[in-house]
Amino acid sequence: MSEIVLNIDGKEVAASAGMTVLQAAQQADIHIPTLCHHEKLEAYGGCRLCIVEVEARGRKSYVVSCLYPVEPGIVVRTRSEKVDKIRKVLVEELMAHAPDAPELVRLAEEYGADRHRFDKETSFCVLCGLCVRYCDEVKHKNAVGFIENGAVREISFIPEIAAKECWSCQECFTLCPTSYAQAAYLLTEALAFPGRREAHSHAHAHATPEPERRVIPITPVAATA
Ligand code: SF4
Ligand code: FES
Repeated sequence: MSEIVLNIDGKEVAASAGMTVLQAAQQADIHIPTLCHHEKLEAYGGCRLCIVEVEARGRKSYVVSCLYPVEPGIVVRTRSEKVDKIRKVLVEELMAHAPDAPELVRLAEEYGADRHRFDKETSFCVLCGLCVRYCDEVKHKNAVGFIENGAVREISFIPEIAAKECWSCQECFTLCPTSYAQAAYLLTEALAFPGRREAHSHAHAHATPEPERRVIPITPVAATA
């Protein structure tokens, strides 16, 4: 594969054709914040937090680095006054949905974001799509998907599939930046197949102990005014 040399934050970085700016930066140990990116998944471009400044052929533009392909000679700035300002507003928008999500709280501190800037719409899901895409692209189960569009878009577990597949998986819980995937699953379980947990406990009461389930504590997400 041909080698492409670009400049990221003043450092000459070698990348392969077909790589994205984010991948080139990560390979060179240069940090760019991401929320919807996962190395096992197709790039999504949903959260836009990975935005960077790119100077190419004398023109400056602001691009989503997880989608933008490397080009020879481009100059990338992962931090600048404008990049930081854009990220600050993005974090403020996301915090209207999930004000206490740990990663957002950390980003808010870094970029000086005001968690109260936008009216609260505490859906607790930031629509990063990690749970949906992981279940589709890695697990090939499609137990969780998006429903509705626009302001009422949300994720939902499909009870028929979730009852069979999720108990032994739950891998999306640890990917979710807000803990909402776990909460949505537990709600689905309680409403659609409430006996599943008791049946499982009963069946395994005298059986060989199995590894502890990876249920992680749900981050308190108080609906602050
Ligand atoms: S539930 Fe979590 S992982 Fe799934 S889309 Fe919402 S924030 Fe992302
Ligand atoms: S990480 Fe690039 S848009 Fe989310």
